Amino acid sequence: MTDLSTVYRLCLLTVFCSVKAYSSSCPVLECWFVQEKAGRGGGLTAATTQEKSLLYIRKDPHSHSADTQTAPSDISPDRVYFISDPAGTLCHRSLNPPKGSVKKPHCEINPFLPQPSSLKWVAALTDSALSPIYLQADWFSTAHQGLNQQLTVSTIMRAPTGTKEQNVILSVTTKTASMQSRLGEPVLLDCGFWTDPSSPLSGSGFAVEWRYQFRGDGRLVLAYDGKADRLADTEEEGATLDIDSLHKKGNASLILQEAKVRHSGMYICTVYLPYLVAQVAMELEIVEPPSLLIHPSPLPLAVPGQTLTVQCEASGFAPLTLELSWEFKGADGKSMPLGSGSVTGHRQAWDGTYSQSTRLELDTSTLDLGSGGELTCVAVHLGGTRRASVNLNVIGFSPPSIEDSMAMVGVALVLYGLIKFVSWSFTSSGSDEAAKQDKKDK
Ligand SMILES: *[C@@H]1O[C@H](CO)[C@@H](O)[C@H](O)[C@H]1NC(C)=O
Repeated sequence: MTDLSTVYRLCLLTVFCSVKAYSSSCPVLECWFVQEKAGRGGGLTAATTQEKSLLYIRKDPHSHSADTQTAPSDISPDRVYFISDPAGTLCHRSLNPPKGSVKKPHCEINPFLPQPSSLKWVAALTDSALSPIYLQADWFSTAHQGLNQQLTVSTIMRAPTGTKEQNVILSVTTKTASMQSRLGEPVLLDCGFWTDPSSPLSGSGFAVEWRYQFRGDGRLVLAYDGKADRLADTEEEGATLDIDSLHKKGNASLILQEAKVRHSGMYICTVYLPYLVAQVAMELEIVEPPSLLIHPSPLPLAVPGQTLTVQCEASGFAPLTLELSWEFKGADGKSMPLGSGSVTGHRQAWDGTYSQSTRLELDTSTLDLGSGGELTCVAVHLGGTRRASVNLNVIGFSPPSIEDSMAMVGVALVLYGLIKFVSWSFTSSGSDEAAKQDKKDK
């Protein structure tokens, strides 16, 4: 028994150790170094240069194991960076795919210029107009998108001038880069940040800002001055932060109390430290499948040859894209597609949801509907497929086939014979009675 449990413990230990070793292995990230071309600054279309670059990530600034590795020949030694990230944010597995995978996480590194911000809720962070000596260093920003949108990270890094030993000073992350929600549900847009506690910039306050952007239309959703502990006035209703969690854990997630169609769009979470800023963007889509209503319901009895008009209304859905169609399932269980009918234009309701309907002209003389079956309206939508059905009853028969006619003639003959026989036996027995009656009377 003791042997067994020792083996068991050893196994556990091995598993535990290998998991630990795996999770603490930080990646070497392939990255693009992107810089504005010198001498052409300004303008919206400032030319940029792109160079391949390599980022060696480690959690512990004192471990130099990565230094011994050699970079591929197509990467300039100037573009190889050694980054210490004590929080381990850049060690997330979605940024470090298995070797040889086709999909690659996205990574970009740019030179960064620390500067004070003039925004109302940020300005207080750099009250004293003197910028510290600490800022005189090489600064970079990085932007990463992990595989399958599991994680988006932005960092600000500092290297003492002339060295290539970068330290992450600020990182901002989101795990909800692409988010879907049903209508009316609470939504949590994830945003978290970490600051290097040993940096002189980290103790002197921060600010958080949430912006919304959709097709060129932008607005401030929420802004929080962490130094004065004050939320800026905004028009937005039902959008909050968990201030306690923000201060304690750097949890800057935005909570929308009730998802509305107008909430669909891009959200940008920006975190400010004095002179530094980093942001992550995420996409929220409100997806609500339609409700279907068939009219008239129940359907009137159909007479062969008649054309029946049926309407199906889909309402309360978002986004707009919807595919409507009809199906018929006979008593024999066979399904038959009936096309999309004539689909109307869409309308938008006060809450931003859409409605659209389709009208089906069901010609019972050209379609073989037998004695009836089930008529179904099908709506295919991003939020799911919805179906609504009504029973269809056809009275009488459709034009008889030759076999049917022969059978009918046969039946008619038999019936005729039967009637003849019955009436003959009735009249003959009737005359017998009459004869008896006659005898009695005499
Ligand atoms: C951040 O705060 C929100 C609201 O309190 C919570 O639901 C969420 O789980 C928190 N996220 C993290 C990573 O702690």
